[in-house]
Amino acid sequence: MTDNEKRALIAEAVSAARRAYAPYSGFSVGAALLLRDGRVFTGCNIENASYSVTVCAERVALFSAVAQGARDFAAIAVVGSSDGDFTRPCPPCGVCRQALAEFCDPDSFTVILADGDEVRELALCELLPHSFGEQLK
Ligand code: THU
Repeated sequence: MTDNEKRALIAEAVSAARRAYAPYSGFSVGAALLLRDGRVFTGCNIENASYSVTVCAERVALFSAVAQGARDFAAIAVVGSSDGDFTRPCPPCGVCRQALAEFCDPDSFTVILADGDEVRELALCELLPHSFGEQLK
């Protein structure tokens, strides 16, 4: 992916974050999941008065894509902020890393993060080494 393509995916994640339902934490998260065929599925965090019912933006995007038959994932951009500034890095939580590991190749799938004026890209295997899953196969 070129830097401009990564920035465009981050921009889609920011748009999604603006749709977050986060009245309890005040922290809005957006995710834009890119398929190998170029399609993008987005998600935002959706909180609940019963806090543990909350779902993260990354899993909203992933599960929405899988429910619509998508399986071939290339990358996900994630942004998060409590003040509308989405330029600080917001890496996915551990649960979302494990959810991504179920469907995404650990070596080639990448997580794209804003970092000031820069764009950072990490392989899923860097974020979740020794993931659980192979044991059951
Ligand atoms: N959150 C996400 O959406 N993704 C993550 O990877 C980490 C946390 C959300 C959940 C909750 O609504 C808020 O951020 C604060 O934890």
